[in-house]
Formats: sequence, C-alpha cells, structure tokens
Amino acid sequence: MSDLHADKVSVAFAGLRALSEVDLTVSSGQIVGLIGPNGAGKTTLVNVLTGFQTPTEGAVTLDGQRLSGLKPNLLRRRGIARTFQGGRLFRDLPVIDNLEVTGVGLGQSRRAAIAEAEAMLEWVGIAPLASRIAGTLPYTDERRVAIGRALMGRPKYLLLDEPAAGMSGQEAADLSALIRRIAGEMGCGVLLIEHNVGLVLNLCDHIVVLDSGAVIETGPPAQIRDSETVRHAYMGTATDTDLPVLEVGA
Ligand SMILES: Nc1ncnc2c1ncn2[C@@H]1O[C@H](COP(=O)(O)OP(=O)(O)OP(=O)(O)O)[C@@H](O)[C@H]1O
Ligand SMILES: [Mg+2]
Repeated sequence: MSDLHADKVSVAFAGLRALSEVDLTVSSGQIVGLIGPNGAGKTTLVNVLTGFQTPTEGAVTLDGQRLSGLKPNLLRRRGIARTFQGGRLFRDLPVIDNLEVTGVGLGQSRRAAIAEAEAMLEWVGIAPLASRIAGTLPYTDERRVAIGRALMGRPKYLLLDEPAAGMSGQEAADLSALIRRIAGEMGCGVLLIEHNVGLVLNLCDHIVVLDSGAVIETGPPAQIRDSETVRHAYMGTATDTDLPVLEVGA
C-alpha cells in the first residue's frame, strides 16, 4: 500500500467543526485535487496530513502505518512535504540557501545539501534565481522556490496549498507542467489545493470536493465538472450552468 491516507478525519475548533469524517487518499505518482469554497477546510486537512494539526478524531496513515502524533519535521523526514498558502520562505536568505537549509534540516551534509539545491533549482527551471534574496522575488517566483524547497530530499508526497493563486494563464500553465513532472518523473504523489477549477480539472487524476468541512463529491475530473452538487456548493443555486473560475490556459 503506497499511499498517504486521511481516515475519517475530523477537526473541531472551539465549537466549529472544520472537518467532518474526511477520507482522502493520495497514491504515488498520482495528482489529487482538493477544491471547495473559502473556509471549506482544505488547509486544515493539509495541516492534519503534515502534522501541523492533530485531528480530533480519525487518523493519518502512510503506506498503511498510522502517523498519529508525529510532528511536522518527523513527517517531513518520512517523505511528506508541503508548501504554504502564503509561501513562507526564509525571506532574508538567497534562494539557494532556502533549499540548502532545508536539506541540512533533513540531515544532509552541507555539501550534499548544496549539491541537491543546485540540481533542484535546475530541475524546477529557476537556476537563474539562485542568488536572489527570497523576500525580493515576485510571488509567482516565490511559489516556484517554495516548491523546489519542498522537493529537497525527494519527498514521496507533496501537498501544495494554492500554488497558482494570482498567476497569469501562462504562469499557471507552466506550473501545471511542473506538477506533472513532479508526479511523472519523481513518482511523487501530489495533493493540489487550488481555486482555479479549470487548472484542477485539466491536471488531476482524481478530485475531492470539500464544503463546510465535509466531502460532498469525489471522482475523476469529468464527474466533478458535471456534478450538480459541486455546482451548488460554488454557486449556491441550481440554475447556474458553469463552475466559477474555469480559466483556460491551464
Ligand atoms: N486555528 C484555527 N482556529 C479556529 N478556527 C480555525 C483555525 N484554522 C481554521 N479555522 C476555521 O476552520 C475553517 C476551515 O478553514 P481552512 O483554512 O481549512 O479553510 P480553506 O478551505 O483552506 O479556506 P481558503 O480557501 O480560504 O484557504 C474556517 O471556518 C476557519 O475559519
Ligand atoms: Mg486554505
């Protein structure tokens, strides 16, 4: 069983049920989309899968093994990496150091971390940014650096929290190509949170839709695109015919 799995995960915050018995599985080499309106619980689920949030009920398993109570840095060493909705780079450090520090944090020697950082920047296609100070980058570049950093140590799973937010059509298309390579060439299982539904429909093998903390639909892209339930969640009405952000170019 090579997968990362949320098993009936619930999270309650002081009376608010942020997640209710959510099941979700990401397998090696697979791209799974996680969509849903603002406040649906998407980031909370990523927090649970990466050890930043302890579930109130339910469990997370990696390759069939329970991961309960493990801290984020231990899960990272076990191969579960993520990016954050706001980027969260080490803003005062050059791009290359952002990757190197992460490699060292994962237990690599400094020399090995530098070598992997250089190779990773090349692989992601951002080698020319190596000596730029991370905090001075436009946020679209910041996102790619965050992805490169998350790929240090070759994680088995990569969870991306809105990596395309604010990107132009071309930038989102480039990002889609990169995500395909992460799954296809690295064999990484990818969980993609994204508000650009067009991008998600084009890119993902499987999609899970959350609304108010519950899974309201799950299936292949065509099924999600045609789902009345999903349409209602986004539009709040039965008569609308299209999902909202169906942007092309993804
Ligand atoms: N630490 C917390 N304490 C209390 N409530 C929280 C906390 N984190 C999230 N919530 C609440 O849980 C719900 C789910 O939030 P979450 O951030 O997971 O949604 P989301 O789907 O990622 O939304 P968005 O699309 O805006 O990023 C929201 O109602 C949010 O206000
Ligand atoms: Mg969020």
